[in-house]
Amino acid sequence: MTIQRVFSGVQPTGNLHLGNYLGAIVNFVKLQATHNCIYCVVDLHAITVPIPVWGGPDELRRNTREVTAAFIAAGIDPKTQVIFNQSQVAGHAELTWVFNCVARLGWLNRMTQFKEKAGKDRENASIGLYDYPVLMAADILLYRATHVPVGEDQKQHLELSRDIAQKFNNDFAASIASNGHNDKYFPLPEPVITGPATRVMSLRDGAKKMSKSDPSDYSRINLSDDADAIAQKIRKAKTDPEPLPSEEKGLEARPEADNLVGIFAALSGRPKADVLREFGGAQFSGFKSNLVDLAVAKLGPLTAEMKRLAQDPGYVEQVLADGAERAGTIAEQTIRDVKDIVGFIRKQ
Ligand code: TRP
Repeated sequence: MTIQRVFSGVQPTGNLHLGNYLGAIVNFVKLQATHNCIYCVVDLHAITVPIPVWGGPDELRRNTREVTAAFIAAGIDPKTQVIFNQSQVAGHAELTWVFNCVARLGWLNRMTQFKEKAGKDRENASIGLYDYPVLMAADILLYRATHVPVGEDQKQHLELSRDIAQKFNNDFAASIASNGHNDKYFPLPEPVITGPATRVMSLRDGAKKMSKSDPSDYSRINLSDDADAIAQKIRKAKTDPEPLPSEEKGLEARPEADNLVGIFAALSGRPKADVLREFGGAQFSGFKSNLVDLAVAKLGPLTAEMKRLAQDPGYVEQVLADGAERAGTIAEQTIRDVKDIVGFIRKQ
């Protein structure tokens, strides 16, 4: 079996929570057993929103180290995999420019995330926010990655990456061949479908995603919460008056119950059906006690390690520098190829 390359990115926007952990990072950890993985802290993406939103230079540095620490604490091995921050490898910005000239205005105009993030005042959104999906395509294709673990909300962006890869391959087909590459210079990257609780919902409203920007801190479990905070938030989590169902279809139209069972399943690495076989018929109070124990047992070591790493920024930055060095080697090769394919004269 050929080893496939995985690439994914997480924005350093601060306040990492259970949704980031179960929805993304847990899967990143799993994939390292079977794939070569490159995990990127996407600081270039972070600055596409207004400065007060990303927090300014000190916050950005802190948040970049925090995501890196979460990767390491969760168990991604920075020696065998690559962990780095995007701005340390110039190729991301370079390839974005070439892709800006491949991607079409019409394609970007369809991106729903831009519409959501720009809101009503579209004239005032940054060009970077509009171009965000092209930078994301460059992230992935700079490493010619084949597999991209992403949440549901990033599927459209990943499709755009495939469109860009395909159009580049077509537009430059002759040059790609004359430079001695096979006709698919860029692979068409595929999403990696992830486990049970990819979508962790708010603890206050089962219809809303758990989010760092929800005004209520009780809506989320932060990766910086201690055991008491975790316990309190789970005990106060919204539920309905019925006992737990014993089969999965009993969770339909019960979003809060579904969410808590999903969190239990993801934290314990078991299917939801299995959790319901154990807890079907139980009241929420009993189920929640079990969930508190499980969450504290699973998240305690993670958050403790993140705290320890927060005290050792030198080590964390060393991991990023080392990762950038190794990512840079792959990136430079792609940039050389792309320059030759497009017809840019390179320094010999
Ligand atoms: N847009 C992604 C998110 O917000 C982050 C991201 C940036 C990414 N570049 C990427 C994810 C490349 C996968 C691959 O979740």
